[in-house]
Amino acid sequence: MNGTLPFLSFEQVTKAFPDQLGSEIEVIRDTTLDIAEGEIVVFLGPSGCGKTTLMRMAGGLDFPSGGHIRLHGEDVKGPDRRKGMVFQSYSSFPWLTVHQNVLFGMRYRQDLTAEQKEERAKRYTKLVGLTDFATFFTNRISGGMRQRVAIARTLAADPEILLMDEPFGALDALTREFLQLQLLDINRTERKTVIFVTHDVEEAVLLADRVIVFSARPARIIEDIAVADTLGDGVRTIETKESDRFFQLRNRILQITRKEAERIALA
Ligand SMILES: Nc1ncnc2c1ncn2[C@@H]1O[C@H](COP(=O)(O)OP(=O)(O)OP(=O)(O)O)[C@@H](O)[C@H]1O
Ligand SMILES: [Mg+2]
Repeated sequence: MNGTLPFLSFEQVTKAFPDQLGSEIEVIRDTTLDIAEGEIVVFLGPSGCGKTTLMRMAGGLDFPSGGHIRLHGEDVKGPDRRKGMVFQSYSSFPWLTVHQNVLFGMRYRQDLTAEQKEERAKRYTKLVGLTDFATFFTNRISGGMRQRVAIARTLAADPEILLMDEPFGALDALTREFLQLQLLDINRTERKTVIFVTHDVEEAVLLADRVIVFSARPARIIEDIAVADTLGDGVRTIETKESDRFFQLRNRILQITRKEAERIALA
């Protein structure tokens, strides 16, 4: 890997969509951000500000109107194996079983044998707690379970970067906590780079090396908070959430988001 290039970079990215009246709606304004390999970067910002749009562009599903998004120094041209996405809404194939859905994530992995794929599918199905439902078609399981299928499918594919758009939003508190810790573990042991969108400030602080707070639309970066500098390098656990440093960060971020909400309300 080239030491001088950032892993993923957003360089003066702008994005505008045509609106119904034939003019343009500005969604992203001049966003510049470097993400290092192995980092977990969390995006926070008001609903509708442009977080999903940024994630889709990082994944190659949409393109900036101006500026560049580069992975290993090369413009992102489309989706590929290196980028794994978990979307905000459930995305699984109802005509496939849970197991088949997870296997589907590995369809391009020619480096794996059929047995290795089976083994990985089982491992990630277990990781998301769905082993007992492996043979169920996904239209026969709940929304939160379907979301977990999507997570297992993406993890099983072993991308270099995980683009996770509110992936745990539909889950109960305990499942969510469990998967947060699993994600931290995967990031630590496999050095996987993660961009994670959430509206939950505690989830943001628990997971993040850095939290990026965006303004209301058009999204621009209000603050880039080096959470890891405050929380330290130690393994994060549920107890991390009880620490003074955690509360300080949480309160600081809440203050920033509240200030932004007031600004919009007064505008
Ligand atoms: N394909 C599109 N065409 C036109 N406008 C779009 C398109 N996709 C998104 N937008 C607009 O871009 C803005 C940002 O949407 P986006 O989904 O990125 O927000 P978000 O930050 O992810 O919000 P949330 O937190 O509610 O998920 C919205 O005003 C939305 O209407
Ligand atoms: Mg969104």
